[in-house]
Amino acid sequence: MKNIYLIGFMGSGKSSVGKSLCILLDCDYVDTDTVVEEKNNKTIVDIFASEGENAFRIYESKVLREVPFENCVVSTGGGIIENEKNVEQMKNTGIIVYLETSFSKIDERLKMDLSRPLWNQNKQKKKELFEKRIDLYRSCANVTVKTDDKSYHDVAAEVVSYIVGE
Ligand code: S3P
Repeated sequence: MKNIYLIGFMGSGKSSVGKSLCILLDCDYVDTDTVVEEKNNKTIVDIFASEGENAFRIYESKVLREVPFENCVVSTGGGIIENEKNVEQMKNTGIIVYLETSFSKIDERLKMDLSRPLWNQNKQKKKELFEKRIDLYRSCANVTVKTDDKSYHDVAAEVVSYIVGE
């Protein structure tokens, strides 16, 4: 099986959908954020605070390059698509699935979240980041699945139905 890369804004459900998807497809699972944290023995919050966002982006891109080329569902960080080379890498090794979630839904889901440095800023800035990324997600996705008001399991099942048709 070609890899399946889940992309989308923070809080779109990439990790939860990814795990469900792995059970349905009986394949391996990689969460790039988790691997970055494990390799550096630091949380993402700590990496941003002590080394800055650029360092995090370098670690994230390196982890993406180390993912096996097949049989994996890969949940990515929301900013992975900001680097063109990452998009190219995902396109060359698999199918890119965009989990599209509205800003209001994300705002509701991440109300109490303190684990995402780029969410931990004022609403205007978060909205701008969201608007800026939407076009990027749409333009690089092979498949888009809307996630508002759907369970993670239902979203995973919908992804499977698209993949089977590919
Ligand atoms: C980020 C999203 C986060 C994580 C980091 C940066 C982003 O991952 O990679 O905090 O730039 O949108 P999730 O999308 O899994 O929250």
